[in-house]
Amino acid sequence: MTDRSQIVNFGPGPSALPDAVLDEAAKGLLNYQGTGIGITELSHRSKEFGALVKRLESSIREQLNVPSSHSILFTQGGGSGQFSAVVLNLLARHRLLYPDLSNDDRVMDYVVTGSWSKKALEEAKRLGGGRVNVVVDGRQSSKDGKSFDNIPSYDRWSISPNPAFIYYCENETVDGVQFSSDPTSHQAFPHHLIHNPSTTCLVADFSSSFMSRPIPYLANHALIYAGAQKNIGPSGLTILIIRQDLLVDTDAAAKLGANPVPYTMAYKTLSDNNSLYNTPPMFSIYVAALVLEQLKAKGSLQYLEKVNREKAGLLYATLQEGERRGIVKIKVKEGSRSWMNVTFEILGGTEKEFLEGAEQRGFRQLKGHRSVGGIRVSLYNAITLEQVQRLAEYLHEFYESV
Ligand SMILES: Cc1ncc(COP(=O)(O)O)c(C=O)c1O
Repeated sequence: MTDRSQIVNFGPGPSALPDAVLDEAAKGLLNYQGTGIGITELSHRSKEFGALVKRLESSIREQLNVPSSHSILFTQGGGSGQFSAVVLNLLARHRLLYPDLSNDDRVMDYVVTGSWSKKALEEAKRLGGGRVNVVVDGRQSSKDGKSFDNIPSYDRWSISPNPAFIYYCENETVDGVQFSSDPTSHQAFPHHLIHNPSTTCLVADFSSSFMSRPIPYLANHALIYAGAQKNIGPSGLTILIIRQDLLVDTDAAAKLGANPVPYTMAYKTLSDNNSLYNTPPMFSIYVAALVLEQLKAKGSLQYLEKVNREKAGLLYATLQEGERRGIVKIKVKEGSRSWMNVTFEILGGTEKEFLEGAEQRGFRQLKGHRSVGGIRVSLYNAITLEQVQRLAEYLHEFYESV
């Protein structure tokens, strides 16, 4: 049997969680706060669980500095559930505001910078009820014309004048493409291109970068959502930070011709019921609360940003050395490289040799996504700088061996 301490789990999600949190969670699974009942056995309507939901909410609000204009809600269905919920809720809102427009005039703007935003776009096309505009497609400015390897330059963007919403994915987990968090960078999200930031509905998928660093221009977003299973906790929980004017009566919109919205997906239903419309993923909420409290005890998001910058910086620098020697190739162009998911190809030696050596050293889940191949190293919050140093040492050894 392999001991957990011998393994470094670089998985893309579900991914590593801190040992201290899992130890604590294991105790709570048997006996939550001395109640004699485990967390997953309590009623979700109990005062203990109600207090836990509040704790998680205030941890997020405090650490991300979420303004009072925005609610924090918890739901299920993951990122994929939100691909649908965004379209249904925001077109319902648009219908209430502009009942007489034709569907062709209800424009949904999609920024496509990787596999996940592409999937979200496909769902919008499938659900209909509006017209899809591709604001920009990163493949058109890629090295080979078909991969997602960059945040396109702003002159390629065409944001609609008055869209029902604008959608983007902050960190593309499969491809390793991320918007810069430095507002002066040309790979930062171009908030200046949005015509009316306070009324425009900017929607962002932060599934694989949530709570890894502060979110620039958070208040300019109408909705930020994230599945928990990367930086926060086990899968099953989806976190929404939502501007309150998005909490609309979707049944009233349906009477005007919008698509009806299932209750479990309607943002207003979630909000009216304090995220407890139906039985929530109690264990995921519990672990997420523990993860965020531990994070707070260690330092602020600025501290985490510093550590995550160092981790990614060390790995990219090591890979750049390998590039100079012709042994590896980083997939994503400089400036658009993700801090969370580092993707590269092995050119010298074989991928199989690289992965076998990694496996022997206890490094796990390094294989790239099946749709793109190559190697992917995920550096979520639970991965320490010391673990990245060990991987960098292995890369150096690999360079010497080929
Ligand atoms: C950025 C991003 N969005 C959406 C998803 C889909 O999430 P889920 O599997 O929770 O539906 C993922 C999954 O990895 C993701 O990384």
